[in-house]
Formats: sequence, structure tokens, C-alpha cells
Amino acid sequence: MNVPHTVKPEGAIRGPVLTFTGDPFKQAPDEVMVYEPDGIVAFGGGKITHFGPAEVIEKQLPPDIEITNYGPDSLISAGFLDSHVHFPQTPMIGAFGEQLLDWLNTYTFPMERRYADKTFASAVAKMFLNECLKNGITTSCVYCTVYPQSVDALFEEADRLGMRIAGGKVMMDRNAPDYLLDTAQTSYEESKVLIEKWHGHNRIMYAITPRFAPTSSPEQLAVAGALWDEYPDCYMQTHIAENLEEIEWVKSLFPERKGYLDVYDHYGLCRPRAVFGHGIHLTEDELCTMHQTGSAIAHCPTSNFFLGSGFFNARRAMQEERPVRVGIGTDLGAGTSFSMLTTLNEAYKAAQLNDYALTAAQAYYMATRGTAQAMYIDDKVGSIAPGMEADIVVLDMKSTPIIDYRMQFVKDIHEALFVQMTLGDDRAIQATYIAGIKRYSRG
Ligand code: GUN
Ligand code: ZN
Repeated sequence: MNVPHTVKPEGAIRGPVLTFTGDPFKQAPDEVMVYEPDGIVAFGGGKITHFGPAEVIEKQLPPDIEITNYGPDSLISAGFLDSHVHFPQTPMIGAFGEQLLDWLNTYTFPMERRYADKTFASAVAKMFLNECLKNGITTSCVYCTVYPQSVDALFEEADRLGMRIAGGKVMMDRNAPDYLLDTAQTSYEESKVLIEKWHGHNRIMYAITPRFAPTSSPEQLAVAGALWDEYPDCYMQTHIAENLEEIEWVKSLFPERKGYLDVYDHYGLCRPRAVFGHGIHLTEDELCTMHQTGSAIAHCPTSNFFLGSGFFNARRAMQEERPVRVGIGTDLGAGTSFSMLTTLNEAYKAAQLNDYALTAAQAYYMATRGTAQAMYIDDKVGSIAPGMEADIVVLDMKSTPIIDYRMQFVKDIHEALFVQMTLGDDRAIQATYIAGIKRYSRG
């Protein structure tokens, strides 16, 4: 861990450091969780160059390097990842009531219409990414709208900030208001132009985005699969098995298929880098297919509670015999918080309702390396180690009077982490670094 990277360090931060070298869902936390009570993380050229105990690393750094010391009440971690979020829903977060299908028709679609206006889209993209940074989220997998200019708006701002962001144009050719519909052909052409323009440009990654089976014709799903064949290192994101009424609808629209996931599988949409939102009501057979195809589920607890969709059983999905990759997602605007700490709190409650307790180690792993693994970028982001991209969040472990008070009584780092995810929110985020550049500083 102390091996210096060949790149010259340009900056460094000091404080307690948390990271994972493996998966605490599979191994004892102490085997895979690294907690360095006084560590230094140095970076240069956008990557981490050094990490280890301060007393060791200090001697390896150039004497003139500036080391920002966040002190003993901080916590340095890899930036958080959000595997499922809709940036255009930022202005309608917390829209009142109803379940998925009514919520889409009443609030979501009318709001998404406004993204035909690029100026509006750019203003929201700016607000959205700023809010991500304020919450320590450094990578997201983002739905835009059916309008290509909404994708440009997101990527232009993400690129300006140097963020590793995945996103894509929603493909939707039926069962939505006319003003939001494309066609199989135009969705193919517009997505292709965006892929050529953006995928692999700096840290931008393209996600082919058929919204969900009910709003795509069989032709459009076939086109999504064909596009993915042409650009196999893109992502594909969609929704699955979120709501019981939605599942019945899919069955009636695709009676020839075995079930919901089989619709996507039939059109070649189950593969590595497929990110399926929700998956609450997936059957055992469907989880096996997810495992066999290397597909991932984005677990979105605040959204699932808000829309009354159910409570996802992450432990079942990750079951040893056929583990499915699971990332965490905020799913704004059905999700009710940008805060990853709040989202982990709700993930804990979803676990409780499935008769198990999500440990702090598992939760923080999920928010960092676990979601990076689900997205197949754990060699780039999600942990603190030389060679990893320098996307870093610094928490304040005493961010409110009650947390400060409560922290007097914790006996170890596990308890301290658990208190943060139970009581903490955006006030706990002291600083966020993107590729070694501080892009957010509290206050
Ligand atoms: N299913 C299809 N579209 C959406 C959406 O925008 N949000 C959620 N939560 N589920 C969906
Ligand atoms: Zn969603």
C-alpha cells in the first residue's frame, strides 16, 4: 500500500482513511476493510499516488508538497457512487404521492418535457451535479430525457468538472405522452450520434437507455440491443420489477416472453455493464439469469419506500451460489435524498424488513467499491489505493450537535460509521475531490 506511484504527487490530504480491499458481504469485515486512523492520501495527474500511515508517507513525499490536514474528526473515503439516478427529475423531487405508474404520468413526464429547452436542461444539470458533489457523490449512472440536448447538457457540465459520469438519452416510443416519444429509428440514430460524440471522451461513459419495457416497442428494444452490439463497452440502463402493477403490464405487453427479465434478455440486454434499476420483485430464475449474464441491480431504497414499491432484499440477490452484482442508487426524483448517508440508512431499513441487518462495513462498501464493481469500474474508482482515480470524499464525523454528542459514546470505527449513516446528511460532507481537484468545500 505504501509503494509510491510513478506519477509525481501534486497534493495530499491527511486524516483517518477508510477503504475496502474486498467484499464484506463475502468476507469478515476486518479482512477487507482498511481503517487507517492517521493516514495520508497523495495524488497527481488525477490519480492517487500514495496511501498509508502519515508517518510513513510523509517521508516519501516531496518536501514542498502541501498537505491539507482534515484532523482526527474527519474521515477520508473514496467518493460515493450512485448507480441509478434521473437528473431531469431534480426539480420535482418530493412530488406528492401515488405509486409508480401514476407518479410517472402525473409528475414525471410533464417535467421531462421541459428538457426540449437546452438552457433549462443545462441549468438543471449544473444544479444536479453540484448537489452530487455536496453529497460526496463522484460517479453516477444517469438517465437524461428523450431529448438529445439534455444529454449534452449533462455531459458538458460533468466534463467541465472532470467527473466520471455515465448517462444516456431515454429511448421511449410508446405508452407515454406524444411529446416525449421517439421512434425505434430516431432513438437509434440519436443515441449513436451521442455515443460517437461522448463515449470515452475524458471520463464520460455512455449508457444506452431504454426507459423500461412498457415504454419501448419490441422494435425499439431490438434496436437497443443492436446498438449495444456496435458499442459493446457502453452501459445499458433500464428499470425492472419495481412495482407489481408494472410487472403485470409487462406480462400483458409481452405475453410471448417468460417474464419481465426475459423481455430484456431476449433483445440482448442482459450482459456485463447492464444496470437494472430496482429488481425488488425478481424471481429466483431471473436472479440466476442476472448472475449468469453479469448484469447488475441498482438498489434504490429511498425511492422504493417513497413510491411504496417494496423493500429490495440485497442479501438474497447476492446469495453465494449465484451472486448478482448490486450497486446503490438514489433514484432521484422518486428517491427522496441526494445524501448517500441517508440512502444507506434506508438500505439498512430495507434489510431489516427482509430480516437481516446491513452492517456499516457492508453499507460503505456498497456506496463505494461495491457499486464500482457492479458497474465494472472497480479498477478505476471506489477505493483508495495508488493508481486509482483520485475521486475522494472527506466526511466530518461531528457535523451536527447530536452527532458530535453521540460520537463520545462509540467504541470503534464500525459504530462510528453506523452513527454517520443513521444521523448524517449533506452537512457531514466536508470536501469532495474529483481527480485530485477539490470541487466542493463545505461553507
Ligand atoms: N420506471 C420507469 N421510469 C421510471 C422513473 O423515472 N422512475 C422510477 N422510479 N421508475 C421508473
Ligand atoms: Zn429510475
